[in-house]
Amino acid sequence: MSERLKIALTKGRLQDKSVELFEAMGLDCTPVRNPGRRLIHSLPNYPLDAVLAKAPDVITYVEHGVCDLGVVGKDTILEKGGAFYEVLDLGFGRCRFALAVKQGSDFYGTYKTRRIASKYPSVTRAFFEGKGMDVDIIKIEGSVELAPILDLADGIVDIVETGATLKENGLEPIEDVAQVSARLIVNTASMKLYKNEITDFLSRVERELGGTA
Ligand code: PRP
Repeated sequence: MSERLKIALTKGRLQDKSVELFEAMGLDCTPVRNPGRRLIHSLPNYPLDAVLAKAPDVITYVEHGVCDLGVVGKDTILEKGGAFYEVLDLGFGRCRFALAVKQGSDFYGTYKTRRIASKYPSVTRAFFEGKGMDVDIIKIEGSVELAPILDLADGIVDIVETGATLKENGLEPIEDVAQVSARLIVNTASMKLYKNEITDFLSRVERELGGTA
């Protein structure tokens, strides 16, 4: 008997894009399109249950093996890490991590220890360690653009998609930190236990991505 796989989807935009991809593969995603307040949805024509979760929790559920698969942004993977297979770049949710400062400010033109605000302290630490630069990192939970405006920080490391948020707040990107897109991740034990089911799902995804590339 074929095992029903569980896939954790990052709620919001990546969830919508995942549903578009699955529907293009022929999966009926009606329950996920009309979720109400329900967080787990069985797909009617494919042995897959969709679990709707916040990005870092997608990794937690896949790492613990309570979900076999997950769709999560590379930004969250870089920040949180974890033990799982990152098997596919799904191609959507594309953006980048950038270092941004107040327009016209000379970030590198001082010997003072710089303060950087970010929702992603690990990514920020790794970026500046790579440069051999000592910085103070301040963790911010959202709207991190406020930190340099309020003079809490000399710069931010954050996600840039269109660049509009930076621009409208008088900031500019000065350096790319990493490229980001949605990834398909797989629990390491599930990969062995449900090899046939996972291979079938992955090959359907790959076929669809190949067809639309
Ligand atoms: C993200 C990011 C930027 C903005 C970038 O924030 O942290 O603030 O989007 O997008 P843009 O380059 O297209 O303007 P999000 O909307 O997730 O909100 P948050 O800052 O409150 O987390």
